[in-house]
Amino acid sequence: MRILSVYASAHGSTAEVARFMGEVWQQRGLETVVTGVGAVRSVEGHDAYVLASAVHNGLWLPEMATFVRRSHRVLSDKPVYLCLTCLRAIEPGGYAYVTNNYLPNLLSRTLSFHRIGIFAGKIDMTTINQDEAWTLAFRYDGSRDASTLAGDHRDWNAIRAWAERVADDLGVCRA
Ligand SMILES: Cc1cc2nc3c(=O)[nH]c(=O)nc-3n(C[C@H](O)[C@H](O)[C@H](O)COP(=O)(O)O)c2cc1C
Repeated sequence: MRILSVYASAHGSTAEVARFMGEVWQQRGLETVVTGVGAVRSVEGHDAYVLASAVHNGLWLPEMATFVRRSHRVLSDKPVYLCLTCLRAIEPGGYAYVTNNYLPNLLSRTLSFHRIGIFAGKIDMTTINQDEAWTLAFRYDGSRDASTLAGDHRDWNAIRAWAERVADDLGVCRA
């Protein structure tokens, strides 16, 4: 069983999530390739796909959207898992908000995901550029000022548990 895990990450924290999950799958004996969306050469030849994307402006990062459009034919024939990292998840009612507002976009409708993981992400205000700061200030759709959400909110236990469930789905026995 071979997994291709593709991530889109503006500031690296989603990449770390994808690599962490890749280690879980390797430990479960799954042959796993984890790669940034810009480095994918060919999508063919894998048994399952995991897409991990940060969310900006309520949307998956554009490079993930492009990847899904480009790879749609291959992806639609295989189990595909989606993992989103975002800030909205840490706000009250955040998971429901993300589910209702960030998922039912065109791309989600064209692929059927076996499992969707929604995880609180990370933001370091010192690493974002001026355009991003503007976007966060004026386009972030949460109930709080996004700058008050700075920090690393990733819950590694929850991420591990989700990765384990993906391995379970793919029929891999626990050691
Ligand atoms: C410019 C910008 C826009 C963002 N917009 C949203 C948003 O609309 N909703 C949300 O929940 N999180 C939003 N976030 C938070 C990111 O999704 C979160 O910080 C994520 O963990 C970043 O992942 P990365 O380090 O892989 O880029 C935004 C972050 C930035 C920098």
